[in-house]
Amino acid sequence: MTPIHSDALVFFGATGDLAYKKIFPALQAMVKRGALTVPVIGVAKAGWNLDQLKARAKDSLEQHGGLDPAAWEKLSALLKYVDGDYNDAATFAAVREALGGAKHPAHYLAIPPSLFEEVVDQLVKSGSADGARMIVEKPFGHDLASAQELDRILLKAFPESSIFRIDHYLAKDPVHNMVSFRFSNSFLEPLWNRDHIQSVQITMAEDFGIQGRGAFYDQTGAVRDVIQNHLFQLMCNLAMESPARKDAESLRDEKVKVLKAISPIKAKDLVRGQFVGYLDEKGVAPGSKMETFAVLRLEIESWRWAGVPFYIRAGKNLPVTCTEVVTRLKCPPITKFTDARIPQNYIRFRISPDMTIAMGVSVAAVEDQSKRDAVELEVSRQPQKEEMEAYERVLTDAMTGDSSIFARQDYVEEAWRIVDPVLKEDTPVYSYEPHTWGPKEADAITPPGGWVQPVLDHDVTDAAGQSLAQKPASGGTA
Ligand code: BG6
Repeated sequence: MTPIHSDALVFFGATGDLAYKKIFPALQAMVKRGALTVPVIGVAKAGWNLDQLKARAKDSLEQHGGLDPAAWEKLSALLKYVDGDYNDAATFAAVREALGGAKHPAHYLAIPPSLFEEVVDQLVKSGSADGARMIVEKPFGHDLASAQELDRILLKAFPESSIFRIDHYLAKDPVHNMVSFRFSNSFLEPLWNRDHIQSVQITMAEDFGIQGRGAFYDQTGAVRDVIQNHLFQLMCNLAMESPARKDAESLRDEKVKVLKAISPIKAKDLVRGQFVGYLDEKGVAPGSKMETFAVLRLEIESWRWAGVPFYIRAGKNLPVTCTEVVTRLKCPPITKFTDARIPQNYIRFRISPDMTIAMGVSVAAVEDQSKRDAVELEVSRQPQKEEMEAYERVLTDAMTGDSSIFARQDYVEEAWRIVDPVLKEDTPVYSYEPHTWGPKEADAITPPGGWVQPVLDHDVTDAAGQSLAQKPASGGTA
């Protein structure tokens, strides 16, 4: 059965940062593509009127991707605004009125989770929850217990099939590409297991700090912000079995199975770091022990992966901005052709800033046939202007009712089960200088053969033509 298309979008937190940076640009892109023709109702408590919201939206488009006059005119005609407290029934009566005849609205909570219960209860009382969808942001909860509590709140009014938990990484083309590369190339499958793969490493490096998000980040940290969600999703794409069918649930079943095979991380398998200067950021508690860098090691105890170590690291203020997955293959057992060390084969998936799939192979060196050169066979492309941005895709899919790229509750709970206990232990946090690869203590968790440090070797630009090239590193071990 084809799911019903949402006939209105209500987004709470309309005057906030996420709306400014991501939601308005996504809405304009949806209008341009013909995917948004229904009323869009912004809700916030800012003492604003509709004209002020429109001015903010216009400014957001000018700052983030560019204003398209024709699309903006259409979006502007769809926009409505309700100003009021989330605990005031009058706010929700106004939302109901703005919804007019809409019977299947999508409610998008771009607001702190502490406000969810109030909003859900008010939506129910005002009659705006029936037949509706609920879209929520990651991280879903702060730990296992809070994720279960949030779920309890949402389930009061919405069935699981109507809840869309955003992880915008799943909406990125290169993340999809990892899956299609795996399951549409038959040469890969015989290699893709514990017999041939020695280790897997996943790096999400960002060369900028917390960008004024101190209040959020100091409650969150690197593990909750990006590892428990974005990077675990990459790991699942890499490790899961081919889904039995192509529907959303079959795909999500396979991802959950990967997480179920992982034991909770032990303290010896996690090193946390904090960049020097973090404590001076606005919104950060004095003496905070929150991590801005983390590296961990885990194992997927399944028939395919048992014994293969997975290494995951993420951090702010590292030398480059790049997300990359490298799968190293075992060395050949013996070779009669050379005494020289043979470079290890690997397969590399770059998620950003460019999309790359590369294979590391070894060939005879030109100058000396007894030696081996490491060569990379690479397919790479920069983001195209017409590609859907992640937020455009998540909102489009949520409104059409396709759950494939959203996290299911059992997935979320499994992910928390893995990281929650160690985050509750008082593990040390070591400082590191900005633009280095984390604290020296992180060396304790290094893949066999070392980390592959991402190199941005050509000038990569984003869809708006802005350079994403590597900034000069001011130190570190890169
Ligand atoms: C967000 C995190 O989910 O993802 C940010 O909260 C992070 O801290 C961002 O910078 C990275 O996303 P992208 O799409 O810019 O790689």
